[in-house]
Amino acid sequence: MEIKFTKAPQLKEKPVDESKLGFGHIFTDYMLVMPYDEGLGWHDPEIRPYGNIELSPASMCLHYGQTVFEGLKAYRTADDKIQLFRPDENFKRLNVSHERLVIPHLDENLAMECLMELLKVEKDWVPHSEGAALYIRPYTFAVDPFLGVKPGEHYLFVIILSPSGAYYASGLDPVNIYVESKYVRAVRGGMGFAKTGGNYAASLIGQDEAHKQNYSQVLWLDGVEQKYIEEVGAMNIFFVIDGEVITPMLQGSILPGITRKSSIELCKSWGLKVTERRITIEEVAEAYDNGKLDEVFGTGTAAVISPVGHLKWNDKIMEINNNKIGAISQKLYDTMTGIQWGRVEDTFNWTVEVK
Ligand code: PLP
Ligand code: COI
Repeated sequence: MEIKFTKAPQLKEKPVDESKLGFGHIFTDYMLVMPYDEGLGWHDPEIRPYGNIELSPASMCLHYGQTVFEGLKAYRTADDKIQLFRPDENFKRLNVSHERLVIPHLDENLAMECLMELLKVEKDWVPHSEGAALYIRPYTFAVDPFLGVKPGEHYLFVIILSPSGAYYASGLDPVNIYVESKYVRAVRGGMGFAKTGGNYAASLIGQDEAHKQNYSQVLWLDGVEQKYIEEVGAMNIFFVIDGEVITPMLQGSILPGITRKSSIELCKSWGLKVTERRITIEEVAEAYDNGKLDEVFGTGTAAVISPVGHLKWNDKIMEINNNKIGAISQKLYDTMTGIQWGRVEDTFNWTVEVK
């Protein structure tokens, strides 16, 4: 499909100090916009200057949350190549989210073509410094001006780009996480496995409470018994107990993270015992009391590998590995970021070059 290009009258200044990028504040010169209209399908993709989108105040996405998103990054290698990490997985997951929210399927090759074209235009925005990357946010939302509750007939698919540093201000220093015992984020049969705004809206109150207590993120428990561990606000969670790597299994209420999947594959390739199963917070606390909780870490595109230093569950505060990054977390971080930035050989064929 031909992608229209509309030139920006003026380009922005690029950030000079990449150590101060933060996450998600800065946007590049261009964005991609592609409408869907019933009868026409997805059509007329356009790369146009980054700017506001005009919407009807009655747009369905604003009222009933029929919206989904993805998140991935473009990395600049030492030899100045730009590469993506498993982007096919993101567009596959986008369609899983579309399906759950009754949004029409988007051809994954077309979505990839749109992204590649946008990245060719915006290549110079991919940061040069260690740990910084160009965060890519593709998303879809219903724009029908209608107040009844039904799936839309008109959508926009948009990709915006944001040069970003670490998601957590603490970088690779361990984060402190609060186990939420009152609220739940998602339930089986709900939308937890989809990357949709409603899941994040449901999580805000827990995050707010965590912040008030000086914890940076929430660890969610299952929505039925509030016993089994699910995931963190923006990452999946792993425990190393007595040498075994354990992560909650996918049962429909948590996001099937691409960093999670890659971490499992890496750990298995190193001969570690990796188990995807249900795990209760009691089991984690018990392992801690018995001195068997070796490591806890989160995985996510924005967060990469994030060691957990403290875990607070009601009145119990667990300090993990003396608040230091553990050996498996460190090896995963080094290998994952090594592959992403082209420092480590990509034996899994995970990276895709932007040419
Ligand atoms: N869980 C949630 C709720 C997330 O928002 C994210 C981030 O995308 C993840 C997990 C990790 O997923 P991925 O590794 O695909 O980025
Ligand atoms: C990501 O890691 O891509 C995310 O989507 C996290 C986001 C909610 C900030």
